Amino acid sequence: MKGIVLAGGSGTRLLPLTGAFSKQLLPIFDKPMVMYPIATLMAAGIKEIAIITTPTDRPLFEKLLGDGSKFGVQFTFLIQEQPRGIPEAFLIAEEFINNESVALILGDNIFYGTGLGRDLAKYTNINGAKIFGYRVSNPSDYGVIELDDIGNILSIEEKPKNPKSNYVIPGLYFFDKSVCSISRELQPSSRGELEIVDVIQAYSSRTLLSVSILPRGTAWLDTGSPENLLDAANFVRVIQTRQGIQIASLEEIAWRQGWISKEQMINLGLSSNISYRNYLLNLENENRP
Ligand code: TTP
Repeated sequence: MKGIVLAGGSGTRLLPLTGAFSKQLLPIFDKPMVMYPIATLMAAGIKEIAIITTPTDRPLFEKLLGDGSKFGVQFTFLIQEQPRGIPEAFLIAEEFINNESVALILGDNIFYGTGLGRDLAKYTNINGAKIFGYRVSNPSDYGVIELDDIGNILSIEEKPKNPKSNYVIPGLYFFDKSVCSISRELQPSSRGELEIVDVIQAYSSRTLLSVSILPRGTAWLDTGSPENLLDAANFVRVIQTRQGIQIASLEEIAWRQGWISKEQMINLGLSSNISYRNYLLNLENENRP
C-alpha cells in the first residue's frame, strides 16, 4: 500500500501565520505539523509515502524530510498547483500509486491513540474503501455520517446545518486501486473543488464502503485555525511531558517498525535538541513492543 500526505492548501484561516509558507510546516509544540500525519502512516506500516505540497513550499519540505532513507522509508514530493480539492491528490499521484491501494491523510490532521498504528495496518490490503467515524461536539463543521444500529452508513452530509449525528469523517481514508479511476470521473462542486465526499459516495453506491468508529480514547485534532493549532500543541505537550514519551517521533517509529537499527536511531538523534536526543538514547533500554 502507498501513502499520501496532502499538505498543500492555502491556509487562509491561519493568515498571517501562513503568509510566507505552508501551514503544514508550522510547529505543533516541538515538531513541524507534517510529521504527525507522516508518523500515522508509518505507524500503519506504510513505507512509500508521497507528500503533496504547493510549488513554492516543496523545497522546504524536501529540506525538512529528505528522501526518507534515514527512516527506512521513501518520500516522494509531488506538487498541487492550486487547491482544487482533496481527490486531486489521486490524479497528481496516479503514477506513484501505480495501481496499488492507497491511504490518504490530510497534512493538518493529528491522530493519537493506543494501538492506532496496529489497527490501521489492518486496512493496508483494502478491497473497497475504509473511512472512519469520530465523535465531535461540533459536527456541522465536518462531513457527518449517519449510521444504523449495526454500523451501516445511512447518509453522509457535508457540513450540514442540522447534523443527523455527532459522528464525522476525519481526514484519513483507505482506498483500493479504483480510487484513481473514480477520481478521474469527478466533477467540481459548486465551490469549484473536487470533493472527497463524492469519492466516498462512489464507493458507497458500489457497496464497497465501510466505516469504523475510532475508539473514544483516540485523539483526532485538526489544526486549521489558530485556536486548534494551540490546542494541538498543548495536547502534545501535556502527553509528552506527563508520560515522558514522544508523539510522532519518526526515528522511534522507524526503529519500532524494524526499519532502522538502534544505532541508526541514536545517530539520527545526535543532531536534535538535548531532551530529544536523550529520549532516543533512553529508548535503547527498551525493547520493541
Ligand atoms: P482545508 O483546511 O480545507 O484548507 P486549507 O488548508 O487551504 O486551509 P483554509 O481553509 O484555512 O484556507 O484543507 C485541509 C487539508 O487538506 C490541509 O492539510 C490542506 C489540504 N488540502 C490540500 O493540500 N489541497 C487541497 O486542494 C485541499 C482542499 C486541501
